[in-house]
Amino acid sequence: MLTIQRTMKILDNVSDLPTLPTVYTKVSKLVENPNSTVAQVAKVIEADQAITAKVLRLVNSSFFGFSRKISTVNQAIILLGFNTIRNTVLSVSMFNSFRLNKNGMLNLSEFWRHSIGCGLISGLLEVRLNADLREEAFAAGILHDIGKLVLDRYFPNEFIAALKHAQTEQCQLREAEKVVIGVSHDEVGEYLAERWRLPHKLVEAIALHHLPSNFRSSPKLVSIVHIANIFVQEMQIGQSGDCKVPEIDPFALEELGVDEDTINGWYVQIQEEIKENQDLFEIIS
Ligand SMILES: [Fe+2]
Ligand SMILES: [Fe+2]
Repeated sequence: MLTIQRTMKILDNVSDLPTLPTVYTKVSKLVENPNSTVAQVAKVIEADQAITAKVLRLVNSSFFGFSRKISTVNQAIILLGFNTIRNTVLSVSMFNSFRLNKNGMLNLSEFWRHSIGCGLISGLLEVRLNADLREEAFAAGILHDIGKLVLDRYFPNEFIAALKHAQTEQCQLREAEKVVIGVSHDEVGEYLAERWRLPHKLVEAIALHHLPSNFRSSPKLVSIVHIANIFVQEMQIGQSGDCKVPEIDPFALEELGVDEDTINGWYVQIQEEIKENQDLFEIIS
């Protein structure tokens, strides 16, 4: 049985742990420096053609809702701001980092659909809540389950056993991971997010999307991703190994100031909006 300490020790010594592309690291550094200019950030992004193309397609998707076409990275940065651009680069580059999970048991295309769906729903919930988390909601949803990819790749036998346990017991994968492996994907995800030096709010959303009431400093973002992760499963968009849809933690609703009727109404609306945002699933994965 593993503990998180032991797992971290093992992963500390893994030399091929996925890294984020240098474009993200560079953008991130620039964004943190108050003297950086739009032109500098644009230049770094444009040096990577694949990322540039995806970022532009993403900001031109119906999800971002700009009425006119954004044709340059410069324009995108001016319209969206540094932090959103950084998180957008992160969202589109994440997928490459794990492209080679070849021995894994997770169906990657289903997993990405789950992740993108969760990102999309987090964003659509944020718009309704006006929670001042527009910069983070989408990326947090996309990244929330990255720990599963780490378990799948570096602890394949244990992870297979957890997936099977979730199936036979018809339980949530997190519970199965705890029983079978001893650590869960949210804990491992937090480790990777810290190692990648992701912004604190994103680390927190990855770490606590199943346990929103354990929040540290961003209860709203954690609650949004918690609900989005449940919605995406209810809507059966993609699959990420769970065999039981969890209940929404009442804490999350209370934190967001939303009652049951409202959230049920939003569910129906969002389910419709997802249909208008199908392009997003192709852009990113
Ligand atoms: Fe999860
Ligand atoms: Fe999930």
